[in-house]
Amino acid sequence: MNIKISVIGAGNVGGLTAMRLAEAGLGDIVLVDKVPGLAKAKALDLEDASAVLKYNYNIQGTEDVKEIKDSDIVVITAGLARKPGMSREELLNKNAEILKEICLKIKELAPQSILIVVTNPLDLMTHLALKITHFKPQKVFGMGVSLDAARFANLISQKLNIPQDNIDTTVLGSHGEGMLPLPRFTKIKGVSLDEFLDDKEVEALISKTINRGAEIVSLFGSGSAYFAPSLAITAIIKAILKDEKRTVGVCAYLNGEYGIKDVCIGVPCRIGKQGIEQIIELELNSEEKAAFLKSAESVRKNLSWITT
Ligand code: LAC
Repeated sequence: MNIKISVIGAGNVGGLTAMRLAEAGLGDIVLVDKVPGLAKAKALDLEDASAVLKYNYNIQGTEDVKEIKDSDIVVITAGLARKPGMSREELLNKNAEILKEICLKIKELAPQSILIVVTNPLDLMTHLALKITHFKPQKVFGMGVSLDAARFANLISQKLNIPQDNIDTTVLGSHGEGMLPLPRFTKIKGVSLDEFLDDKEVEALISKTINRGAEIVSLFGSGSAYFAPSLAITAIIKAILKDEKRTVGVCAYLNGEYGIKDVCIGVPCRIGKQGIEQIIELELNSEEKAAFLKSAESVRKNLSWITT
């Protein structure tokens, strides 16, 4: 049996994710969107693309969520995107409703699947998906901080004029204002970032990283980033399907790790065929730990605003 990957939401992130997954040969793809014709149109276009590539893949577009039946992996990108000036949290209740409906379907139709949440506000939507599906926490997680880590790496690469592959960044925390790019755990050929830059320069890179998503939203005027997000999702799915056991930052359910309980938040995790196979606990200093706890508390506070 072929691997089946469903992508719910055929907007820019969903459509590009479907394209990248198909091109990477990771499985048969089902692209779902309730907007009439949208998913089907993108799937037909991607089929034509396969003829140009001279590379066969199976992709199907549909309005019917039932087609996700028995998926191995389901990616949720559906939801409203941020508008300029809108925080990820403001999207909360609208997207919570959309997510709830989708998660009930996933629970019914693909109970064995690994679920990757991309809809914002990411940490809250991941928590909601976990509570609604009652799947094991290792099988429900969010794509967030791996994208933020890539953004941090890119900005460092530009600042220091150093190739991307020499840079290894770590970002913890929420995929939002409480994001914590960690200079002490960010290495350039094994040397920590603060050896290259002074505090002020590091702070500037951190704040640029935190604002990168919003910067892109404000340039678009409508919609948010999709090239890097779709790649980050594809990298996570590849780590699962190839059982890579690679450490990737994802939004995971913490049950005592880092002294935090019952919150989904970004942490480094070892990803393999079981999903999250280990949550990596970094040795944070007291300042980093305090900032991380603060980030977790703000996610917890926002959770109580979900009215659905
Ligand atoms: C961003 C959206 C995907 O950070 O959350 O661009």
